Amino acid sequence: MHHLHIIHTVGQTPMVELRHLSPNPDVRLYAKLEGWNPTGSVKDRIVKHMIQHAERDGLIVPGDTVIEASTGNTGIALAMIGRAMGYHARIVMPENVYPEIPRALAVYGADVHWVPSEAGVTGAMDVARKMAADERTFMLDQFCNPHNARAHYIWTGAEILEDVPEIDVFVAGLGTGGTLMGTGQRLKEANPATRVIAVEPHPGNQLQGLKSLADGFIPPILDLSFLDGKILVRSGSAFRGARLLMQREGIFGGVSSGAVLHAALQFAERIPKGNIVMVFADSAWKYLETNLWSRELPSEEAEEAMDDIIWW
Ligand SMILES: Cc1ncc(COP(=O)(O)O)c(C=O)c1O
Repeated sequence: MHHLHIIHTVGQTPMVELRHLSPNPDVRLYAKLEGWNPTGSVKDRIVKHMIQHAERDGLIVPGDTVIEASTGNTGIALAMIGRAMGYHARIVMPENVYPEIPRALAVYGADVHWVPSEAGVTGAMDVARKMAADERTFMLDQFCNPHNARAHYIWTGAEILEDVPEIDVFVAGLGTGGTLMGTGQRLKEANPATRVIAVEPHPGNQLQGLKSLADGFIPPILDLSFLDGKILVRSGSAFRGARLLMQREGIFGGVSSGAVLHAALQFAERIPKGNIVMVFADSAWKYLETNLWSRELPSEEAEEAMDDIIWW
């Protein structure tokens, strides 16, 4: 029998068609379910790739400490891959993360260093960078590390093309920009007409894993001129999207998956035909204790009228 190592279970996630959600039979909606990765998010891909590269480049050896700023998924991915590959994981996080995240990190045995909520992930990055000055301590630096986007170019993009070779629109959330840049580049190489659309929280709205560029920080790995457009989504629309996914398709998607669905549906109504591919970055287990499933949401009409689409 061929034995897999846990590291080999990263990627090769399923692609499903959302048959009940498309408003038009000629517009087909597909979602890549990144919640199927070993720690339940797309971030397993980039952490694995960044660590393997740092090893290859002689920057780290097992026994070293690998540090990262994260609001959740990247931290959990680092905790798992650190365990599996022999590194100490240290995660710098703002205090307002979901309670499941530090619990999972404790199970994996990662160190957590807290920064105030107001510092956000950018404040956490500054602290992580200072800590990385210590000996035998290396910062992954997902917002700046080109191997983040590269992992998506090599793996996510190629896997998507195997399942759906002709893609008109690609929609993914914007956190570091790694998914959009790497996957988008691979898809545009296969078909230059593919439009790459970013999903961003409306300024002032919190969407787990996604980042508003309005706060002034543009991740260095993100090249805005590469994107074809972005859709700003409010938390209410993202929550409604996640509920719709469950009700119509039986898919247990996280908050950012709900936001991506909401954005993709806006697109689906605007094009006469074509294939829309989405990345659902995680599943919703981590969000069970939040009010994602229970909160009263503002009326759809009131909110949707205010969603902004920005084109380049
Ligand atoms: C739940 C979730 N969705 C989407 C994203 C965005 O991915 P990326 O960092 O590749 O832009 C992240 C990453 O932070 C995330 O945790």
